[in-house]
Amino acid sequence: MGRRIATAALLLFGLNALKGVVALDNGLAITPQMGWNTWNSFGCSLNETVILDAAEKLVSLGFKDLGYEYVVLDDCWSAGRNASGYLVPDPAKFPNGIDGLAEKIHALGLKIGIYSSAGTMTCARYAGSLGYEEKDAALWASWGIDYLKYDNCYNQGQEGTPKLSYDRYNAMGQALNKTGRPILYSLCNWGVDGPWNFASTIANSWRTSGDLLNTWDRDDANCPCSELEGLDCKTPGYKCSILNVINKAVYYPSKAFPGAWNDLDMLQVGNGGLTDDEAVAHMSLWAAFKSPLLMTNVLSNIDPPTLSILQNPAVLAVSQDPVGSSVNRIWRYYVDDVDANGYGEIQLFSGGLAGGDQLVLLLNAGSKDRTMNATLEDIFWEDGPGGTASQVQQSWDVYDLWANRMSNETAAAIINAANSTGSAAPAAPINMTALGGAKHVYSQVPPSDSKALMGTKVGSVQPSGTVKAFVKAHGVAMLRLRQQSQKKDEL
Ligand SMILES: *[C@@H]1O[C@H](CO)[C@@H](O)[C@H](O)[C@H]1NC(C)=O
Ligand SMILES: *[C@@H]1O[C@H](CO)[C@@H](O)[C@H](O)[C@H]1NC(C)=O
Ligand SMILES: *[C@@H]1O[C@H](CO)[C@@H](O)[C@H](O)[C@H]1NC(C)=O
Ligand SMILES: *[C@@H]1O[C@H](CO)[C@@H](O)[C@H](O)[C@H]1NC(C)=O
Ligand SMILES: *[C@@H]1O[C@H](CO)[C@@H](O)[C@H](O)[C@H]1NC(C)=O
Ligand SMILES: *[C@@H]1O[C@H](CO)[C@@H](O)[C@H](O)[C@H]1NC(C)=O
Ligand SMILES: *[C@@H]1O[C@H](CO)[C@@H](O)[C@H](O)[C@H]1NC(C)=O
Repeated sequence: MGRRIATAALLLFGLNALKGVVALDNGLAITPQMGWNTWNSFGCSLNETVILDAAEKLVSLGFKDLGYEYVVLDDCWSAGRNASGYLVPDPAKFPNGIDGLAEKIHALGLKIGIYSSAGTMTCARYAGSLGYEEKDAALWASWGIDYLKYDNCYNQGQEGTPKLSYDRYNAMGQALNKTGRPILYSLCNWGVDGPWNFASTIANSWRTSGDLLNTWDRDDANCPCSELEGLDCKTPGYKCSILNVINKAVYYPSKAFPGAWNDLDMLQVGNGGLTDDEAVAHMSLWAAFKSPLLMTNVLSNIDPPTLSILQNPAVLAVSQDPVGSSVNRIWRYYVDDVDANGYGEIQLFSGGLAGGDQLVLLLNAGSKDRTMNATLEDIFWEDGPGGTASQVQQSWDVYDLWANRMSNETAAAIINAANSTGSAAPAAPINMTALGGAKHVYSQVPPSDSKALMGTKVGSVQPSGTVKAFVKAHGVAMLRLRQQSQKKDEL
């Protein structure tokens, strides 16, 4: 057991001291947005064919049913501006225009997102929107666009203070609002100037750090946040690993609330760089931190384990929980079993869910499987430090949210059916449509006997007790605690 790093002072960062802050009032992203984005798999080789194919797969593989609704075009869709200063879609990539594509995506019951940069050029050096905010927003609205991812490249040095960043991003926020069309505004300035402090009134989400690489951990001076780099976890950096992004996001959980989310960057699940346990941990952490969940894998050749990670309703219900409260990190210890990159640590995250339930996430970033322990006193630290929280004196049932992960056989059957007929999934984990739709299902407290939404009850913990869980190396235990019935005290 190594040194305990988290201190009470650090924990205070996580307290919900921000009540009363106003969100951007566009009615969107009341729970973190879910969808699919072109970038990590297609880069600049996007076109109508691959995007429509992904949209169709969102439907036929059952993703739409589970709440994944936005199909987002990233960089490289345009062919510059015309003589009147309006952006023109690349006609080779989009022979039917983006409005034509939008119509087809809407016909599938999905929504469409687009990309630009708050700079003179996008990151891939296409026309940017700085100075063209109103024209661009009006054009996108006229095409039926529902979502904007707004990047930070070629910003002409208009950053370095929160005000400079705020003003530049607010210009687009105002322009989007002026269109009268509700357009989800996903601000992507990589954490520069602390968007968690200035963006919640102008955007629905903001990136907390540099681009997430398809790696579990990785030493990189460009994205510091390890003991070797002096624990500088407040420099946003770029080319960040999963562990690195998490070790930065722990400072801002309380800044997120319904309509305004910390964006830990798009999911790398299914892109090949992670083991199965690492991908499960990645998905669990992103859901627990209420990050937007934008898949980026090629859906037309998804494999069964990937499908079953992205389609665990018990985990998605945590992401979409109506309380909308991120987990806080309670503690972090270094451990001796480091991996090849020199990392070895374990962490406890905890946070409230609807119905008085509590999410407990135990992260094992050591290189050995281990049993991990979390006391109720630690789990409910945010509700009253030092064991003063009333919840510490209750008995709790413990549910393992990954226990009912879909089998690879079921996942393969879904993929085969979508491959051969293009028809709806035959064996989806839960029929959301029959239950009133994903948004409705997630807005309820899940019934204790719902295997899809609660996983499996694996034990219980007595007052002042300790939750124990076996956690694989580079893995997590994701547990939902539910208070036991008080009947025996009521008489
Ligand atoms: C669309 O993009 C895909 C992937 O980059 C490519 O294989 C395909 O040839 C492209 N189709 C058209 C019509 O450009
Ligand atoms: C430029 O594009 C806009 C929007 O599509 C269009 O209304 C306008 O006519 C175009 N102008 C020229 C000169 O092509
Ligand atoms: C524009 O902003 C106003 C004031 O915050 C808000 O009431 C309205 O819903 C917004 N409209 C859109 C389309 O976002
Ligand atoms: C579904 O089709 C894709 C593309 O043809 C292929 O890569 C994949 O292996 C197929 N999956 C199954 C389970 O047959
Ligand atoms: C958890 O507790 C068990 C004893 O119940 C102990 O063997 C194990 O080392 C503990 N794990 C950690 C990570 O402290
Ligand atoms: C599905 O297959 C993957 C990869 O082989 C494996 O790691 C995982 O444990 C399997 N899932 C289940 C539920 O058996
Ligand atoms: C889900 O429920 C809906 C509405 O009851 C029904 O139409 C649909 O066939 C069901 N889907 C599956 C896969 O059973």
